[in-house]
Formats: sequence, C-alpha cells, structure tokens
Amino acid sequence: MDATIDTTSFVNPLRQGMRSTRAVQPCVMVIFGATGDLTHRKLLPALYNLAIEQPLPAQFTVVGVARRPFTDEEFRQQALDSINSFSRRRPVNPAIWDTFAKGLFYCQAQFDDPADYESLGKLLDRLDQERGVQGNRLFYLATPPVYYGAIGDLLSSSGVAKRGGGDAPGWSRIVVEKPFGHDLTSARELNQSLNKGFRENQIYRIDHYLGKETVQNIMVLRFGNGIFEPIWNRQYIDHVQITVAESIGIEGRADYYEQAGAIRDIVQNHMMQLLALTAMEPPNTFGADAVRDEKVKALRAIPPLMEAEIASDTVRGQYGSGIILGESVPAYCQERKVSPTSQTETFVALKLLIENWRWAGVPFYLRTGKRLTKRVTEIAIQFKRPPYLLFQGGGAAQLQPNVLSMRIQPNEGISLLFSAKVPGQEMRLRSVNMDFLYGSSFGVEPPEAYERLLLDAMLGDSTLFTRIDETELAWTLVDTIVRAWAKTSAPIASYEPGTWGPKESDALIERDGRTWRRL
Ligand code: BG6
Repeated sequence: MDATIDTTSFVNPLRQGMRSTRAVQPCVMVIFGATGDLTHRKLLPALYNLAIEQPLPAQFTVVGVARRPFTDEEFRQQALDSINSFSRRRPVNPAIWDTFAKGLFYCQAQFDDPADYESLGKLLDRLDQERGVQGNRLFYLATPPVYYGAIGDLLSSSGVAKRGGGDAPGWSRIVVEKPFGHDLTSARELNQSLNKGFRENQIYRIDHYLGKETVQNIMVLRFGNGIFEPIWNRQYIDHVQITVAESIGIEGRADYYEQAGAIRDIVQNHMMQLLALTAMEPPNTFGADAVRDEKVKALRAIPPLMEAEIASDTVRGQYGSGIILGESVPAYCQERKVSPTSQTETFVALKLLIENWRWAGVPFYLRTGKRLTKRVTEIAIQFKRPPYLLFQGGGAAQLQPNVLSMRIQPNEGISLLFSAKVPGQEMRLRSVNMDFLYGSSFGVEPPEAYERLLLDAMLGDSTLFTRIDETELAWTLVDTIVRAWAKTSAPIASYEPGTWGPKESDALIERDGRTWRRL
C-alpha cells in the first residue's frame, strides 16, 4: 500500500531550516518505547511544551507503543508524571493538559511481532477517523537500538507506514534515535531495513545537538554576519579546538556504554556535527539538502587516517576512581555491569585535518570525556598571532592569540579574546574577553533541543537531521580508529576524575606547540 509523495518536503527550500512559522498538519506521533527513559524525560515533556506554545493542531495525537500492559488512562497518568518531573514549564496548566491528555493513547505490542502491527494499524486507522489526523504518521524509535531494523521492516510489511510516492492519503515519516548502527556495516544494514518502508526524505536521523539553539547559531554567526567569513580560513586561523566535556559518569548505562565508548557515543555524532558546521562552506540556501551537501563535503575532506597517525594523533582514556565535585566515585571498570578488565574508552582526544582550500594545514583538535572537571561544550577558533610584535615588554610576550569561542553549554554565548591596554601611564597589555551571553541578551529561555527537532520532523523539515551520507562518513572515520585501537597492545590511558583527561591528551596537542584551552 503506497501513499502520496511527502509534499511537505518540497516547501520552498529558502525557508527550510530557518523556519519562521509554519503550520503543522494534523498528525499522529507513534512512539515506540513509550515507557522508556527517553520518552519519559524528553519526548513527552517536549510535546507538552509544544502544546503550550501552540504550534500543534488540536487534532495532534500520540500513540505510545511498548511491551507493558497499560491502559490509555495509565499511560496518560505516566505522561503527567513525566511532565511534572521534567517539563521546563511547570506546574502543569490544567486546561492545556486536559486537551493534550485526550490525544494520548496506548498500544501494547512486542516490537518484533507482526501480529501486533495489525492491532497498531487498526488503532491508527480508527484515530484517522476519530481524531481527523488524515493518515499523517510520525513514527519515533525510542526503543533499544536492537529493535530499529525489525520495527522498520514491520512498519513497511504491515502497511502501517506508507512509502512516499503512492496514492493513499497522508504522509509517513520515521525518526531514528542514535546510535544509528554500531559501525559502517550495521548502519548500512539498518538503513536498508528502513528503506523498505521509507525513502531518504522520510527518514529523520536525530542528533539532539543539532536542536540546540547555540549549535544552530554557529551557522548564523558565520553566515549572518559579514565580518567572520573573510577570516574563517587557513590564512587567519591557527587551529580549532572542540571540547565536549562532562562531569557525570555513565549513569547506569553500562550495557550500552560498554559497546559504544566515547568514540561512538559522542565523537561519531555530536562532535562530527560540530566540526562539520564549523568547517563547511556556505550553503547557497538553507534547504535541508543544501546544508547537508556542504557538511558532507567538509567530512569528505578529512583524509583517511593511517595506523601510524592513529597512534600519534588519537588518545583514548578511561577514568579511574577518585573524587569529583566533592563526591567519591568508582573507577569506570568498577561501575555496575562493567567488566573489571574493560578496555572501553570514556575519553577521546584526536587531531584531524581537513584537506581542502579553506582548511589545509589547520588542525582540528577534538576532546571529549566523562568525569572531567566540568560540563562544558565549546568550539574555539584560535587565530594566528599578529605578524610582528610591536609592543615589547609590559606583558606583551604573554599575550594570548585571539580566540573566538562559541560556548554551546552551559552559559551559552560567544566570546572574543583580544589584547587591550591596561589603563595607566605605561604601555602594559592584557588579554580580555568581549562576551555575548544568550541569557542576558535575549532574556528568554531557549526551547529544548527535542522541542525544535520534533516540530521540524512534523513540519517535514530535515535540515537539522543527519543524512545517510553524513552518518556513513562519520562511521568510516570512527571504524578506522576503532580497528587500529583494537590491534594495539598499548593499554588504555587512565585519568583521575575531575581532571581534563590523561596526560597523553596534553602530549598530543603540545607536540604541535599548542595547548588545550583551560575552560
Ligand atoms: C548523549 C550521550 O547523546 O549525549 C550521553 O549518549 C551524553 O552519554 C549526552 O551524556 C550529552 O548530551 P548533553 O545535551 O547533556 O550535552
């Protein structure tokens, strides 16, 4: 059973991604994994916040799908508890909640049992009539990743999802949570399963970093201003540092993390996206494909890493036991359900090059880890020093080069480090910061990343979702590194919680005569 083309994917590309206001068509969002943590902490609160801000039509409907035997009423109660605990807008507004709750339904199902898809299909057909959702269906995969392929297969073989291009009314789209595969091969297999029921323009691979306001602002800073782009290249930039640091540990997610490690958990997706947005050429429109074409070109320009380079330009570390923020914490390999001999990395540092006209010779240094000094995500563009040091003495030798830092979180903002004269009779110089802070400049609370991304998926705007070629390129890079690591007999570097990672990470950047920023 085929359906109409997903016409909302053909809206004026100039408006895509930089949406002002566009109306969401009546639709049903089907959440697989409706009793899980992601639904509880992120999805239901995000939907409720959207209901408050009113971009959702009155007919908007949610069907939670999971294995536990809940009634609609029990699911509604669970949703209310989630919103009460995690919504950024609290307390719950009774009038808005009442209307929202009437659109919540539950369907008990095994994710891999074809018979259950028949029941789901019947429920959705009924809701098409009763709630007037016109056959528009947004499927959200919030289950353990092992079910993604089966759900994709069964949605198409049961006819519950409609592949764009046929005659039946309504559109179908599918949102897939990370991780999208475990490596290049499994990512391709998963994609093949999804392609049975969905065309590429119906598949929304989510990376919640792209929904963060500050990440979207990378493009606005670069392409919405005239002064940055002329110096955004190898002539002016010495190097780039991207940091995604967390003070938390693995938070009871050993089953997943033991398989993933920091390179799959953060580098393959969030960090490669930050790198791509920083390095890409200006797209000619803000259409989904124009933006993603440019990101892909930047990723493709990263040369394949040779084994010798992986040995010298990558570092993997694992946290030992220690004290962080006054609390004593176990070593990674003593965490519950982690093997005591685990070689899984909780820290990665690497140096990448981008071989193109703009970036030749400009290293990108990336570092990420759990149990580091603090939670901070930042992209820092470090510029070259002035060609000639006019000011001698008076602290001039200690002056730091100009740095433009884009603070993704917390204290979201942008700051420029530059040299200034210390007031007084002498010519003394000091580095100072010019700061822009979102909070104080706009005085409004930004929406949560999931609010933005769910709304975009309902609108059919995939600009802020990753396309399969981006995903594949990121896996290719990660697979090469992981394969080389697996071959080496060198033990994983250990680091103390509350530090910036193993000393090998400092050595990696210091070898090039540079240092990590103190954040
Ligand atoms: C997730 C990772 O994708 O991102 C987690 O799986 C990590 O390990 C989280 O903690 C970080 O997200 P944020 O939005 O807190 O920076």
